[in-house]
Amino acid sequence: MCRVQSLSPTEYLEHNYERLVRELCAYIRFPSVSAQPQHAKDLAACAQWVVDHCKKIGLDARLCKTEGNPIVLAKTPRKAGSKKPHYVVYGHYDVQPPEPFELWKTPPFEPRIEGDSLFARGSSDNKGQNFAHLSAVEAYLKTGTELPCDITFLIEGEEEVGSKSLDGFLRANKKELACEAFVISDTGMPSLKHPALTYALRGIISAEIILHGPSRDLHSGIYGGTVDNPAMALAQLLAQLRDKNGKIAIPGFYYDVESLSAYERKEMAKMPMTEKQYQQFMGVPKLFGEKGYTFIEQRSARPTIEINGLTSGYQGEGSKTIVPAWARAKLTFRLVPNQKPDKIRKAVLKRIAELCPPTVRLEMKVGHGGEPYIVSPKSDIAQAALRTLKAAFGCEPMLMREGGSIPIVTQFKNVIGADSLLLGLALPDDNAHSPNEKFSLDAFKKGMRMGALLWPELAKLKRK
Ligand code: BES
Ligand code: ZN
Repeated sequence: MCRVQSLSPTEYLEHNYERLVRELCAYIRFPSVSAQPQHAKDLAACAQWVVDHCKKIGLDARLCKTEGNPIVLAKTPRKAGSKKPHYVVYGHYDVQPPEPFELWKTPPFEPRIEGDSLFARGSSDNKGQNFAHLSAVEAYLKTGTELPCDITFLIEGEEEVGSKSLDGFLRANKKELACEAFVISDTGMPSLKHPALTYALRGIISAEIILHGPSRDLHSGIYGGTVDNPAMALAQLLAQLRDKNGKIAIPGFYYDVESLSAYERKEMAKMPMTEKQYQQFMGVPKLFGEKGYTFIEQRSARPTIEINGLTSGYQGEGSKTIVPAWARAKLTFRLVPNQKPDKIRKAVLKRIAELCPPTVRLEMKVGHGGEPYIVSPKSDIAQAALRTLKAAFGCEPMLMREGGSIPIVTQFKNVIGADSLLLGLALPDDNAHSPNEKFSLDAFKKGMRMGALLWPELAKLKRK
């Protein structure tokens, strides 16, 4: 990785492509699963790898300890009193649990290239995407091309579990992080021919419900029929939270929901996928969703309830005739602009308490949460991003609302006062959070190009 004066940043990226893929594979090999405490050491090692890599490419990097997983902060070298606009690139090095292992074609943390894809947990969500930005900046630094912006990388290790430490970190480092905007590649695009700027994300609340029945698993023949079955009680309770038209049956739930404008509905209808294609892609016999909305609206601009996990009784082979002692459900609700997580959480917990029969004891645990996010797709910065996407991908970009959540973007706005520019590189079939996650190497190439072309475009904008 020597300094190559004669190459432009984009030429540098092409020349060094194979090495960059190898380095991305090294990054991906860390099993940095933030939800599982046994991986704390792997997360720390992964963060250290990012710091070392940042230093190697010429950034001033440091590892910032937190109560949870460390945060990496890495800055382009800058002169005191720099007049350049400052942008912060945000990403995360933590990944979702890889389970169930048996559904992976090859082990999740052994990156495998097949065709034009790099398979591994974290390849697209989010290591590949933040590595594309790191590589684009490397290309400037190593070719001696002056960067028209000052750039800080903020790469955290708790995004997949609610970014608990980052909020305090933002408050403690407010000055250093003051910027024009946050640049984030942690969302998706419909296809390589449809690069996208995401201007809205859904919010989220999560909760766990546990129904406790008898003090121990009981013989279901001797005692069944005299005590409530917590699994049955839980199933009956959960079934009352959503009606058959896909509406959430919780009083007040829709009260603040902003309705979709005719303009947005028209834009969403441009998505290059039919209902039939989507149904086949999901592998379901028939789609289900809130009546009155298209599947594109349902998955990005309408609130939803999901059961993420449901556990009770005997899960092993064969049968075991018991009344289980308890039953547990992990729930999340996705929220849309104007819904307030705290208000919704209260309404949800109240309804669950009301629905719980007196024959079981209810325990509720509140999990992470995040507000929905929406910005104008017509702003100057959004237009600059659209120009960059067009130049990098060679086709017309789309404007999108997305169903996933990146709760910290609200804190970027509230604490730092800056909006987020969401330029995702994940494809719909990248299997984020699923077995056999992959990252398209074409998306990687074009994403690095986008990263390189973005800085001159952003530098042209009027300052905040
Ligand atoms: N990269 C996703 C968020 C995302 C994906 C946004 C696709 C839009 C489109 C991120 O890593 C993620 O999975 N976030 C979690 C947040 C939660 C754990 C608080 C999510 O959305 O489930
Ligand atoms: Zn994720």
